[in-house]
Amino acid sequence: MIIAIDGPAASGKGTLAKRIAAHFGYQCLDTGLLYRAVARDLLATGQSLEDDKAAAWTARSLDPKTLDDPGLRLPGVGEAASVVARIPAVRAALLAFQRDFAAQEPGAVLDGRDIGTVVCPDADVKLFINANVDVRARRRYVELKKRGEPVTYDGILETIKARDARDAGRADAPMAIAHDALLLDTTDLDIEAAFDAAVGLIKRKIGQQG
Ligand code: CDP
Repeated sequence: MIIAIDGPAASGKGTLAKRIAAHFGYQCLDTGLLYRAVARDLLATGQSLEDDKAAAWTARSLDPKTLDDPGLRLPGVGEAASVVARIPAVRAALLAFQRDFAAQEPGAVLDGRDIGTVVCPDADVKLFINANVDVRARRRYVELKKRGEPVTYDGILETIKARDARDAGRADAPMAIAHDALLLDTTDLDIEAAFDAAVGLIKRKIGQQG
């Protein structure tokens, strides 16, 4: 069983993916962490985010054991991740790891931007999670403030808008709604309500298959 969850920055897809995986007893992969880790490793070795060759090499040498680094969640790393994520050789280098993860039994939940369209086009269930950009910026602001990061609401809003535009506008595997994805707008939903709605959609979809 593969559940693909895509959506823009701070739409709540990461939190939902983890809760859905725990509910069904599946493994969960936040694929954004892979791109964040490539950006981290490039910057740590003083290389440019625009250097395609260095980025591809870094992606191929990525150690998945380093994905639990809390530094990957810093806002600047998300921004840097979306720069390296434009490079086709980086995306290609990360594909096999994601597909191997998705193939685990009894099932896997992957969240990102291109899971339903490119990584797992045959996923059993595809969700596209969205929310109004102001609500998403507010959520990310509260999350980062709680962690003591020196952020402003306006700064977060601008960064999220720029990142969405970059992710949706790139040529290779842009953020897109798969033709068979189920849409969930969480603008007016708290996490409990969003989780209930997502589980309802998944059960209905699986029920239709079986
Ligand atoms: O958590 P948030 O939504 O802020 O971002 P993320 O999911 O950690 O992703 C960080 C960046 O990685 C995104 O802005 C994308 O550019 C890139 N990404 C991607 O290109 N494809 C994916 N499947 C996941 C992330």
